[in-house]
This record gives sequence, structure tokens and C-alpha cells, in this order.
Amino acid sequence: MKVAVFGLGYVGSVTAACLAANGHDVWGVDVDTAKVDPITAGRSPVVEPGLDELMANGVAAGRLHATTDPHLALERADVSLICVGTPSTPSGSTDLTFIRRAVQDIAAAAKDVAPPDSGFHSIVIRSTVPPGTVDDVVGPALAGQPSGGFTFGTAMCPEFLREGSGLADFFAPPFVVVGTGDPRVGEALTELFGFLPTPVQVVAVRTAEALKYACNAFHATKVSFANEMGRIFRFYGVDSRQVMEIFCQDTSLNISPYYLRPGFAFGGSCLPKDLRSVLHLARTNDTDLPLLAGTLATNELIVRDVVDRVLAGPGREVALLGLSFKTATDDLRESPSVELAERLIGKGYNLRIYDSIVNPSRLVGANKRHVESKLPHLQRVLTGDPVAALRGADMALVSTTDAEAVDALLGCPPPRTIDLSGRLGAQVEALAGYEGVGW
Ligand SMILES: NC(=O)c1ccc[n+]([C@@H]2O[C@H](COP(=O)([O-])OP(=O)(O)OC[C@H]3O[C@@H](n4cnc5c(N)ncnc54)[C@H](O)[C@@H]3O)[C@@H](O)[C@H]2O)c1
Repeated sequence: MKVAVFGLGYVGSVTAACLAANGHDVWGVDVDTAKVDPITAGRSPVVEPGLDELMANGVAAGRLHATTDPHLALERADVSLICVGTPSTPSGSTDLTFIRRAVQDIAAAAKDVAPPDSGFHSIVIRSTVPPGTVDDVVGPALAGQPSGGFTFGTAMCPEFLREGSGLADFFAPPFVVVGTGDPRVGEALTELFGFLPTPVQVVAVRTAEALKYACNAFHATKVSFANEMGRIFRFYGVDSRQVMEIFCQDTSLNISPYYLRPGFAFGGSCLPKDLRSVLHLARTNDTDLPLLAGTLATNELIVRDVVDRVLAGPGREVALLGLSFKTATDDLRESPSVELAERLIGKGYNLRIYDSIVNPSRLVGANKRHVESKLPHLQRVLTGDPVAALRGADMALVSTTDAEAVDALLGCPPPRTIDLSGRLGAQVEALAGYEGVGW
């Protein structure tokens, strides 16, 4: 394929050289001659192990070119990969000026040069951009521009390489994700990246845009989490390196997909209690742990947001399906659903609560005391029949995933369903009035 790469910094240089190494005809474009000239001379414009050699080979083989002229790159090109910078503005927002300009450069050049035989050209953002950029920035930048014989399709294909190991990362990415609503772009990129060991996943544009932010936010969170462990435990003579080394051996809960699904707040008898305990240790030592403190703040916001969403809608009859902090247990201690119920009852809502396991007459000890303090009238509002809970309800708040509750929702769907688990299945999600808590 003929590929134009716009922006020859770290991402663009690695991308251009690696694609050329795999037989593609690659034309790198940069507005800065300090990036273009070294490539033309067979050298890398950025310091990256192995890149000089790869560039020299690509240039010598006639498969890698660099230019400041988009026309040369666009002539008969199948794909443009936009790898320009997306720096922060002083407010923290993403400056998309370079993205806009690159798209305009592509459109302006396309009207003057011959299109590829297919006439179809994929414009693909490789830079990191906020969700909505392809739809709201790239689309409008192209609209109304004359495009010669080119028909454009657009996509987001985030890059996951790290500087310093850019080549190895490029050839062994964790995933190759193409966000597009245009099957022709999906096909073109599946062909372009066909040499990689990872299959191309074609997803919604905004999923691909958000994915890169999710990855970087998580990586940053991991670093700060480990550092906060060090900040607190060093006061107790603990070698936090050893703690974290053993911590990482747990690949079922710690380093795993577990606890990484968006949904409702965490709760139960351990997580809130033990977090509070760590935060207390921190206070005792005049130490701030803002990341860990933030998890409690986020947890509170998740409950508050659901209450606000209920308050914003019509009706006062609420079916709460699922009460314990997780399905298949009757432990109600610090269950966020109990908290939700308490707040809604306090605001004058009529609740009917379904839980297949919780039986107030069988609760004992701390579990019983917790319920008595939070929901003294539980016996009156609790039912073991989800259909009874849903009868006459204006809305359902659903944290359970048990089959009876799902069947009841499908059999007598309420006007509004707020799904707190994300595991109710496609049929429930297709109901009118369905809302996901975070999707
Ligand atoms: N650096 C990384 O490790 C890395 C990894 C993954 C993703 N990213 C993302 O990739 C994007 C690029 O990052 P980078 O580090 O390669 O940036 P960079 O600043 O090193 O390079 C950007 C290049 O784009 C050029 N440019 C600007 N406008 C142009 C235009 N209209 N036409 C052609 N060239 C133009 C600039 O002259 C510059 O050489 C960013 O969005 C970044 O967040 C970076």
C-alpha cells in the first residue's frame, strides 16, 4: 500500500520506518525540515534504539521517503496516518490545532493529485485525541473541501509504543484497534497491519479514542498506587518493593481483569473498612494519600450520581433489584445498594426491594446491626419475587444479575431501568428506558 505519514516525531518516525520495513511504500510528511532532512539522508530525526538502521534500510530500498510537500505523499496514496502532536493547553484540554491542519493539508493536496486506483483514501488518526475528535473535528475539517477524485473515510487507530522500546513495541503491540464506522477503512487497516502478530479489532470510533486515555490513565494510576504504598508503609519498617513484588504474583485478583469493569460502587465488609484503615495510618503519620482517598470519594460520587439521576426523572415508585454488595451473598455490610435504598427512602421514594438471598429474619451479628441502623423497615419493603417488586414501579435500579430478575425485567419492563452491573444482557439493554450506570 502507499502510506502517507503526517508528523515525523517519535510516533511518526517509528511508524514510517516499520511500515516501510514491511514492504509498504511510505511517504513521511513534516512541516519541519529538521525532521525531513535526516530521513532523506537515511538517518532518524529522533533518538530511538534501532531506528537509524531501519530508516537507512528503508531509504536505500526506495520504500521510505520524507518530504515537506503533502502532494508528493498524497499522490495515489491509500492511507494517511496522522501522527502530529496533541499537546496540552494551559487549561489541560487537548490542543487539536495540528490535527486540524494536517487534515486540511491532506484535503488541499488531494484536490491536485491523482487518487489511488480504488479512489478510496483512509484518513487515520494515530495521535492521542479525546473521544469525539474524528466525528467533530476531522469530519468538519474535511466537509466542504474539494477532494479531487478521492473519496475519504476516517478512523482512529491509537498507537501504544513507548519511547526507548518503540520498535519492539510497534512490532508486538498489546492490541491493534481501529475505530471506524466505515468498513472500507477497517479493511484497509486490516491489510496495512496484517503483518503484526495481533489481530486487528474494528470497534466504534469513540471506543478507540477513549482506549488510549484509559491505558495511560491506568498506567499513571499504577505508578501512583505503588508509590502510595511506599509512602505509607515505610513508616512501619515495611519494604514496599517486596510487598508489591508479591502483590503482583496474584494474577487472579490483583493483576487481572477482575475489578476493572465499570459498574456500581464497591462495598462489603472489607474494602471500605481497610481503605479507611490505611488512610488513618496515613493521617497518623501526617501523610497524604490522595489516590487512595480519591477512591472513597469516587465511590461516594457513584452512589450520589444514581440518586441524582433518580431524582431528575419522573415517578416515586422504585424497584431495587439486588440488595447485598454482591450477588450470591446475604452480606449487607456497607453494601452500596443499602446506601442507595436508605437515601431514596429518606427522600420520600417508595421502594420495593428484591433480593433472592437476603432474608431479614436470618440476618445475624454485624450484618443485622448494619441493616437495622440503615434500613429498619427492610422486612416490610423486601420481597423474594422480582415481579412483585416491579409491579407499578416507575423505575428499576438493578444490581443483581440473577436470571429471575432478568426474566422479570423482560416480562414486565418498567418505564426506566438503570443497570448498575452491566451484565443484564442484550435483551434487557434493548428495552425502552434502559440506561447503563456508566455507558
Ligand atoms: N511519544 C510517544 O511515546 C507516544 C506514544 C503513543 C502516542 N503518542 C501520541 O502520538 C502523537 C505524536 O506524538 P510524538 O511524541 O510523536 O510527537 P512529536 O512532537 O515528537 O512529533 C510531532 C510532529 O508533528 C509535526 N507536525 C505538526 N503539524 C504538522 C502537519 N500539519 N503536517 C505534518 N507534520 C506536522 C511536528 O513538526 C512534529 O515533528 C501525540 O498525540 C502523542 O500523544 C505518543
